[in-house]
Amino acid sequence: MQVRYVNIKDIESISRLYKIAFDRSYLSVHYSIELLNKYFELLIHHNKYCYVAEFEGRTTGFLIGGFKTHEAVNEFLDKHRKKVFFYALLSPRILLTRLSKLLCSLLKKSPVSKESLRLFIIAVHPDFMNKGLGKQLVLRFEDDIKNDGFNSYGLFVRADNLNALEFYNKRGFICEFKSYNQYSYIKYIQN
Ligand SMILES: CC(C)(COP(=O)(O)OP(=O)(O)OC[C@H]1O[C@@H](n2cnc3c(N)ncnc32)[C@H](O)[C@@H]1OP(=O)(O)O)[C@@H](O)C(=O)NCCC(=O)NCCS
Repeated sequence: MQVRYVNIKDIESISRLYKIAFDRSYLSVHYSIELLNKYFELLIHHNKYCYVAEFEGRTTGFLIGGFKTHEAVNEFLDKHRKKVFFYALLSPRILLTRLSKLLCSLLKKSPVSKESLRLFIIAVHPDFMNKGLGKQLVLRFEDDIKNDGFNSYGLFVRADNLNALEFYNKRGFICEFKSYNQYSYIKYIQN
């Protein structure tokens, strides 16, 4: 299993893997491959710490992290708002969840994480889960940020994503706060 920096040719396989690894309660899983390619193009363009895992020429996992994940998502939404809205209309349950989240944030100011360096997405192909690949991707990310002089980072994880919660708990993350249906986690890296 090899973990390496992402390149532009990996985008399509990342989009395909994303659709397989995440369940259909995530709105972006419903996007077409073409739209997902645009999403990942922006995320990868704006963020330094992006990796894929490969096995026998097949993309088996990926991780996207950096300081500009939020900006990349906002740019994507600005450019493709109508298409995203179209997919939201096709998934009324997700739309409802999004609306109630929006309502909550209007009623109560959401806390902001103190960590600007983010691990934005990690995914492993279901055929390769629980074989240490997620751990390998996180270690590569942590090695690189450590070499760049950073010793902590944050991520958001949905409260109903029990597998990911278990994975992060085992990897030494601590909870910063819970807001609506997600936890903000922080990891302090030891030298
Ligand atoms: C979360 C995810 C990336 C973990 O990747 P993985 O390759 O299966 O995890 P690993 O095999 O490296 O596991 C590392 C450790 O976590 C544990 N772990 C992983 N998944 C687990 C699970 N479902 N339940 C309990 N423990 C789990 C492993 O036992 C292992 O423990 P160890 O270090 O003591 O040996 C993967 O399950 C995934 O892609 N999930 C779908 C996408 C997702 O939800 N991403 C996270 C939100 S952005």
